[in-house]
Amino acid sequence: MYNAKITGLGFYVPEQVVTNDDLSKIMDTNDAWIQERTGIQERRWIHKDSEDSTSLMGAKAGKIAIERAGLTKDDIDFIVFATLSPDLYFPGGGVDVQALLDMPTIGALDVRNQCSGFVYAMSVADQFIKTGMYKNILVIGSEYHSGGLDKTTRGRGVSVIFGDGAGAVVLSRTEEKGKGILSTHLHSEGKHAKELVLEGPSTSRWVPEIIENNDPNDVSFYPYMNGQFVFKHAVTRFSEAILEGLEKNKLSVTDIDLLVPHQANLRISQFIQRKFKLSDAQVYNNIQRYGNTTAASVVIALSEAWEKGKIKDNDLVVLAAFGSGFTWGSVFIRW
Ligand code: UT7
Repeated sequence: MYNAKITGLGFYVPEQVVTNDDLSKIMDTNDAWIQERTGIQERRWIHKDSEDSTSLMGAKAGKIAIERAGLTKDDIDFIVFATLSPDLYFPGGGVDVQALLDMPTIGALDVRNQCSGFVYAMSVADQFIKTGMYKNILVIGSEYHSGGLDKTTRGRGVSVIFGDGAGAVVLSRTEEKGKGILSTHLHSEGKHAKELVLEGPSTSRWVPEIIENNDPNDVSFYPYMNGQFVFKHAVTRFSEAILEGLEKNKLSVTDIDLLVPHQANLRISQFIQRKFKLSDAQVYNNIQRYGNTTAASVVIALSEAWEKGKIKDNDLVVLAAFGSGFTWGSVFIRW
């Protein structure tokens, strides 16, 4: 069995910065509410004149990760692409990245696990490397929310939270013992699927049905979130996913050098930090500047933390996520 190690990482966010004050001009909200409840100060939203898309942002992040790994596109054996906002209903974004980066005809797999998408994608890629099937895998999380949000007062409970962006890592085979991904832990609880959901258009809610109903109050094609319900489950499941990995690897909380939680809400991260008695230096948050970018959030935060020199050789880095499904999980990495 081989180990899988991150050899390159990078992120890309659209240029347009949207502040809380900008939002208060288009809906009944304000900077104080958003900051107090979520910690978010601003987010990036793709400008209407920009060519950026979920796939293109993913490809841009992927290109950076490949270069930083000291590899070329021809060295990559497989793509795993996580998003809840693909450019098309089908096919998924993985094949777009293969085309955009002009890669050989390697396999491309799409992961549909929302906020946990990157954690799931890392676990999938890890298995392919551990078994020896592939040597270098490009793992991407990318998200384009802003085009599909209800940007009126009706949708303010959700639309102020989400941002656009992408991040990527190259996961490579290593024979170094005890290095790279130590373990991954994945969970789901589908009975809560409707608590954080975008119902249609889908096979349970086709476009003709939506058009036929012609109901101006139909919001089924906007994301819905039962915020407080999701919040309560998030804090519990984040904690469980971290504890599970610590136990599996016979480690304790004090061994964690950097926790990179999914950037769902700064209050959730702070709750986890207090619960595990972690210092500010042990937890990386950037939701203040990018909002919640779902499948991209963990990898954008990981990449930014690495760029800022917050991760050193041999550090124990823990990724954890929770979101729609519900799905949740963690990745334990010895850097
Ligand atoms: O990434 C996947 C996982 N996601 C999460 O884990 C998110 C979990 N949930 C949350 O982060 C929080 O529940 C939210 C940030 C989404 C909402 O915060 P909350 O403290 O749960 O607020 P709430 O939904 O209970 O709303 C409180 C009040 C309501 O007004 P009334 O009924 O008390 O008069 C809302 O209408 O705040 C109002 N409100 C707003 N006011 C100003 C809701 N959104 C806004 C807004 N601006 N944007």
